[in-house]
Amino acid sequence: MRYQLAPLYCRPWTLNGISARLIESHYENNYGAALNRLNVISREIEQFDFSTTSDQSLARLKRDEIVALNSTLLHELYFASLGGDGRVLPDALANAIAKDFGSVDRWRQEFVGIANGLAGGSGWVLLTYVPRDGRLINQIASDHDPNIAGGVPILALDMYEHAYHLEFGANASAYIAAFMRNIDWSAVKLRYEDAIKVAPPRPLEQKQFADVPSISVEEVREMLESGTSVQIIDTRPKHYTTKAQDIMEGAVWRDPERLDDWIGTLSKTEPVVTFCVYGFHIGCETASTLRKAGFDARYMSGGHFAWKAIKGPVRLFDDGALVNSRLTVTS
Ligand SMILES: [Fe+2]
Repeated sequence: MRYQLAPLYCRPWTLNGISARLIESHYENNYGAALNRLNVISREIEQFDFSTTSDQSLARLKRDEIVALNSTLLHELYFASLGGDGRVLPDALANAIAKDFGSVDRWRQEFVGIANGLAGGSGWVLLTYVPRDGRLINQIASDHDPNIAGGVPILALDMYEHAYHLEFGANASAYIAAFMRNIDWSAVKLRYEDAIKVAPPRPLEQKQFADVPSISVEEVREMLESGTSVQIIDTRPKHYTTKAQDIMEGAVWRDPERLDDWIGTLSKTEPVVTFCVYGFHIGCETASTLRKAGFDARYMSGGHFAWKAIKGPVRLFDDGALVNSRLTVTS
């Protein structure tokens, strides 16, 4: 692939306190160099001789490719971030920023604070939309590596010295202030609108249990911590209990195969949460059966291991626990 140079997005003569000379040098010598480097690396990879060259050389080239590719992408975003008056944020963007940072002022303090923290070093400060979380976050990108997987940067501040030294010398904070004065918020807003169209990663879908409501482990923890009455049933299969070492604190184990034996011990006035090992099958099925019998039952998504993954408290699942469970059922 041959990468094409993007024309300069901002109009350098309109900027306030950032000279055309600085932008020209930056565009030509740094953005241009990154693009040329990227094309050289790209050609080397295309012509790579797998029979005579080591895999380590290939891995090195691929690492260099990331640096050069991201440098071009981020420089294009940087030039596209400039050209406005930096003052007025369109409502949609101001609201999104206020939701995720508390207020536009707090966002600004954090963004500028990060940039000042990078002064004298190098790196990028990015405002990035994360589709999984549906939120904006400020981040540092070192070595041109915008390393929030799946994140979509919508505003970029270049804190490499080449971005300001020519005009501002070591006075990085004056450069940061000038950048903030020139942000093109209407362009950022359009990029935000594009970013929020990016779908979050696909969630786990269990079509056969689509009509059975689930509850997250975090929600269950909250219920327990707030003292909400809830009946939590561990329905890991009986054969599994022979190797189980622990059981969720607050849960009782019940044999899912003998549901008829223990369903009568449950209260219909308190919610029921069921779970199995990973939350795929048995916990869902049990919740479904309980719902049909009139219980307010949900399955805990992710099951026993999701509970452990959030460091939810567990207790020893020994023979005693198993015997006690059986005794409770039959008593
Ligand atoms: Fe740069």
